[in-house]
Amino acid sequence: MKYPDNITPYRHQFIEEGYTLIDNQVPNPVKWRGQILNSIDLKEVYVPENKRKVAAGKGSLKYAALDRFQLDKVIKEIHTYYHSLVELLTLVTNQNIITSPYDRSAYYAKVYKSKGDEQGWHYDTNGLTVILYLTDNTLSGRTEIERLNDKKRVFVNPKAGSMLVMKGRECWHRAEPIESGLKVICPLNYYVDVAEERDPRIDDIIFGNV
Ligand SMILES: [Fe+2]
Repeated sequence: MKYPDNITPYRHQFIEEGYTLIDNQVPNPVKWRGQILNSIDLKEVYVPENKRKVAAGKGSLKYAALDRFQLDKVIKEIHTYYHSLVELLTLVTNQNIITSPYDRSAYYAKVYKSKGDEQGWHYDTNGLTVILYLTDNTLSGRTEIERLNDKKRVFVNPKAGSMLVMKGRECWHRAEPIESGLKVICPLNYYVDVAEERDPRIDDIIFGNV
């Protein structure tokens, strides 16, 4: 695992604004993207119906998802990668980061593939959210975040290989609808100090009851 040369600026931004973006942290973004897209083409994946409410927020949901068990079969190394990130995340956040005990949602993949696919404004249920970006999205499909310090809404442009580290439970955020092209991400869920209870219905909403 290669780390940025100097963690301090990332830590400062994370503490002040509630998020930070680290470039070139995903080992094989193009390969992983291809593996996910091949799998999405072959499988029946769950697509939440638009405007369905999530207990954790109010966002509309429109995307295809592979849950952790499906993703483990598609990207064999992602399990080890998910666990190996704890050290870097502890350094960046200055908090006691632990992995998720909730197997199905610990890490997963989302593909926004049709015009209008999005996730509306919401908070996450877990304390620390990492998004691995596997595509470049500049004109649409950006992540929009309300900064903690000044409540200003800012866009993060997905760039293949970049990693967003965010206080998902504190920062109001959304995935902007895509206008064209494709957006592929892997959200990774972590907790701070302890893993609070997670409503099992949330996983059914994200992934379907299969
Ligand atoms: Fe989120």
